[in-house]
Amino acid sequence: MILVLNFGAQYVHLIARRIREFGVYSEILPCDVSLKEIGKLKPDGIILSGGPASVYEHNAPLMDRKILGLGIPILGICYGLQLIGKFVNGEVLAGKLKEFGKKEIHVKKNGKLLKGLSKKEQVWMSHGDLVAKLPKDFEVLASTDTCPIAAFENNERKIYGIQFHAEVAHTPKGNEILKNFVFGICKAKKDWHIKSVSKKLIKEIKKEVGKNSVIMGVSGGVDSTVAATLLHKAIGSRLYCVFVDHGLIRKDEADEVKNFFEKKLKFRHFYFVDASHIFLEKLSGITDPEEKRKIIGHTFIEVFESKVIELEKKHKGIKFLGQGTIYPDRIESAQPSKYASKIKSHHNVTLPEKMKLKVIEPLKEFYKDEVRKLGKEFRIPTEILNRHPFPGPGLAIRILGEITEERLRILKESDHIFIDELKKSGYYGKTWQAFAALLPVKAVGVMGDARTYEYVISLRAVTSIDAMTADWAKLPYELLEKISTRIINEVRGVNRVLYDVSQKPPATIEYE
Ligand code: XMP
Repeated sequence: MILVLNFGAQYVHLIARRIREFGVYSEILPCDVSLKEIGKLKPDGIILSGGPASVYEHNAPLMDRKILGLGIPILGICYGLQLIGKFVNGEVLAGKLKEFGKKEIHVKKNGKLLKGLSKKEQVWMSHGDLVAKLPKDFEVLASTDTCPIAAFENNERKIYGIQFHAEVAHTPKGNEILKNFVFGICKAKKDWHIKSVSKKLIKEIKKEVGKNSVIMGVSGGVDSTVAATLLHKAIGSRLYCVFVDHGLIRKDEADEVKNFFEKKLKFRHFYFVDASHIFLEKLSGITDPEEKRKIIGHTFIEVFESKVIELEKKHKGIKFLGQGTIYPDRIESAQPSKYASKIKSHHNVTLPEKMKLKVIEPLKEFYKDEVRKLGKEFRIPTEILNRHPFPGPGLAIRILGEITEERLRILKESDHIFIDELKKSGYYGKTWQAFAALLPVKAVGVMGDARTYEYVISLRAVTSIDAMTADWAKLPYELLEKISTRIINEVRGVNRVLYDVSQKPPATIEYE
């Protein structure tokens, strides 16, 4: 495996993902991980990520410098390279010659790290500091017009560095450099494949659960569906699945999920809890977005817990709580590095704190695309595997202001038309997320000969890679026109449709 130490880099996930795509297991750990922990993992190589700090800052993130002497090949990327520069008593210059964006490197020598690269290559730079000098045993492989050491290697000490980001698509030969490191230098083996991994996972679940049973909340989304299927393959009828309908899900979704688990997957224990009245009652009159989130989160736990207690009484042996947590959830919620900014707390990670069940998270090492591959192998229909992400608080954060039954009906119907047309036109698969939002204002219109005074629907469709940034989807005008006409004609209570053309940042994907 290749270990990636996180110094707070924006692109840290990309490094691990690329390596896994090569067929080699890779994991991200905080930069201040102990030598003992590293020893347990037995990595074939260690990559030091980039990060927003300068090595000269008072609180600059550090690692144990003994890591450089372990004899394990090390590759420093950006900040990682500068940190190596500092540790080996090189000269690191702060903030003088910043480089950002596409740059050209001049390759003086290929060495092991830049094997196969031409004399000039395009790379992606994003740095303020640079390493100006290194001890004699370090060989400079490449430079740019402003950065004297854009790549170096020291084969004796097995220490390597690149100032640019090999993990992003703007460095076209990035994969070759990473492969040179992973295979050429670290001699890692290709043994990370979804097929072999799924067999291993099933075996591990069987061993961990033993003769006990697992209870799990499912949402109809990709992660929980694949996790439940995996658990089902391992323990069959000792899996108890609970779907809590908070009433804030998309039109027809409750029936779809129910049919899928009961009829298609043939789960023996699937419990559908219609709690929509409880949620809607508690949300009545609430307009503050954070308040809505809190109420939904708490109520969800209450409803789920009471179902768990009921089932525990009836069926002995329920000792585990299954969760569809995936790798990025853990990284984002648990703050792998105190230097990376916290993104958000996923409620599926915090949910079990109050319960006395042991958590089992069969997908905790996987990225979304790997979860989809696993799902495909299990023949889960593509409509579920390619489903757009859906927020925990559901439609509550897409109805701005107060949630009423009428507003919920209008939103569900409008959203249904939007998604239906996106699917028919092939644009659903080309967008990261698409949905309708209801604005709590009324506008004047004219229908027939009469004046109308009705709600405004905003359509949001975005493209994104990881939801951290997003761009509005450039849907064809004809398609938008068709959707707008259908919504205004078919949904009672709407007389105006808008298309949202804001990017994230500064806007967010959701409205609240
Ligand atoms: P924003 O609105 O922050 O959304 O740009 C980024 C991604 O996160 C999803 N999202 C949530 N998911 N609970 C969730 O489970 C939430 O409270 C929540 N808020 C936003 C959103 O749908 C998008 O994919």
